[in-house]
Amino acid sequence: MTDDALVARYAFARKVAREAGRLALDWRRHSSGFAPEEKSAGDWVTAADRDVERFIRERIAAIFPGDDILGEEGGGTLGPCAWVLDPIDGTSNYVHGLPFWCVSIGVMIEGSPTIGVLDDPTHGVQYHGLKGAGAVRSETGRPDKALSVSGQMTLEHCTLGFAHQTKRDIKLSVDAYVRLARAGSRFRALGSGALHIALVAEGVLDGFYESAIHLWDVAAAAVLVEEAGGWIRAPFDPDNPLTAFPVIAGTPGIRTDFEEATEAFFT
Ligand code: IPD
Repeated sequence: MTDDALVARYAFARKVAREAGRLALDWRRHSSGFAPEEKSAGDWVTAADRDVERFIRERIAAIFPGDDILGEEGGGTLGPCAWVLDPIDGTSNYVHGLPFWCVSIGVMIEGSPTIGVLDDPTHGVQYHGLKGAGAVRSETGRPDKALSVSGQMTLEHCTLGFAHQTKRDIKLSVDAYVRLARAGSRFRALGSGALHIALVAEGVLDGFYESAIHLWDVAAAAVLVEEAGGWIRAPFDPDNPLTAFPVIAGTPGIRTDFEEATEAFFT
């Protein structure tokens, strides 16, 4: 794909994410009928998730009809140029009125995260990045800020996002938690995988761990953290892109120790 074609998709992703964020916020503020349902224990979907995903899909299909689309609510496939969508990442927060959720739009080229946009309409913030061109936090009324991971060199005094999903053996998460806590880290669980990773990219958190996550939660955020100088280990299966996998991400100085503490998840 040419640079121009990528830049066009990047600008479009930013615009559609902003519109989708506004739509999700309108659903939250003005509709009493966003109809929360639990797909499985703790895994929520609402009429707003479905409507926002439909909106994004229609906008993409109208401008880039040859591109693939894979979304949390509608599924899909991963072709050579695929849009990967989570209409509301942090649906449980959204349902319960905790203002920490976002719209996530990623573009993967040949399976590699290339464009990432997270729109957090509650706070007027958009995180966005393009592979090779950097990542930025834009906030209404403030100057843009280039994203850059923290300078932490050891797990001691790190603040890590940490989430366990019941699909994986709790023992693995407990073991990792104990090892990381013994090394001196403290933990936060904020309820949006994508925003956790954006906070690592911003240097607010030093790392993030989740025992099971999906491609739509990380496709956009992966670009942010890598462009901010960090790393992410998210071994999704390109042949089964709807299947969950473990994820860790962080600042370079903690990589070896963090990988060692969580290795059992990846073997
Ligand atoms: C979920 C959130 C949550 C994470 C789950 C995700 P959803 O996404 O990111 O923080 O722990 O793994 O599935 O369902 O709210 O879009």
